[in-house]
Amino acid sequence: MHLQELINTTKLLVADNKGLLAMDESYPTCNKRFAKLGIPQTAELRRDYREMIVTTAGLNESISGAILFNETIHQQLKDGSSFIKVLNNKGIIPGIKVDGGTVAMAGHPGEKITEGLDNLRYRLEEYAKMGLRFAKWRAVITIGKGIPTQACIQANAHALARYAALCQEAGLVPIVEPEVLMDGDHTMERCFEVTEQVLHTVFNQLYKQGVMLEGMILKPNMIVPGLACKKQESIDEVANATVKCLLRTVPAAVPGIAFLSGGQSPELASARLNTMNVRFKNKLPWELSFSFGRAIQEPALDIWHGKEKNIPAAQKALYHRAVCNRAARQGEYNIEMERK
Ligand code: 13P
Repeated sequence: MHLQELINTTKLLVADNKGLLAMDESYPTCNKRFAKLGIPQTAELRRDYREMIVTTAGLNESISGAILFNETIHQQLKDGSSFIKVLNNKGIIPGIKVDGGTVAMAGHPGEKITEGLDNLRYRLEEYAKMGLRFAKWRAVITIGKGIPTQACIQANAHALARYAALCQEAGLVPIVEPEVLMDGDHTMERCFEVTEQVLHTVFNQLYKQGVMLEGMILKPNMIVPGLACKKQESIDEVANATVKCLLRTVPAAVPGIAFLSGGQSPELASARLNTMNVRFKNKLPWELSFSFGRAIQEPALDIWHGKEKNIPAAQKALYHRAVCNRAARQGEYNIEMERK
């Protein structure tokens, strides 16, 4: 086992109030976002878009690690260098999404299970040789009538723990992502209840399968009401509920918790993370960080729109969101930052 190496990488990923940038959208997800803006869904444009991201000047001031998609690590920047090399040169640790996406869970209507454990050991060995130092696996839990079931929570937690153990064996830090979705009209209390159950089950499985907690990062959802719920709690209420749920479920040995944004607006994701840090930073056993995809990329993607001439403005927007989220890590974000 690579115990010390795992601990060191994990510490670096949450050091200095920086956070993670998720730029690992799968083909269907990336294509869907491009299609919405009328951007052609080609490998070349996905490459161009991701080159725009990694060449943003100053990104490393706020971003400690970037999660890539398998397609990207086999592509090159226009100057011929690899994405892994460019990130390393900037002092941004390269990571990789290794799950194979979600499929309908047999016998469980409305629920999903994440695939990708087959051959994972060999893929991880290859990734480690290529210089990738951490990995991500996303499990999805849906709230609805009669769901989630125990079966779905257990199966997903089991897969997350198997993935995490394999990552640590290969010397890659696992980012363990059990995402309770925001879709639906459920209340914040229901999100709390389900997330609490999911996180208990996940840490139980991580323990059973011998995952070293000091060498992993948890990537959870915040505790929020469903997007279609009539009652939308305040930023303070979301921050309090989220920290309460995490205190009940996440062992103190875990160095960092890096939230997904899950469809929150970029400003709201920053504001909620900020409030958690204003209220609780230095009183918690773990760092409260970010591993946002949409909440960092969305404004930049809108501006870029597939056009080279828009790159400088898009990079400015990306840099700005990264800076806002680093400020939120320190409890120093405020809405004035959005007006600049
Ligand atoms: P969002 O922040 O857009 O939810 O993406 C994070 C992520 O990596 C999902 O797996």
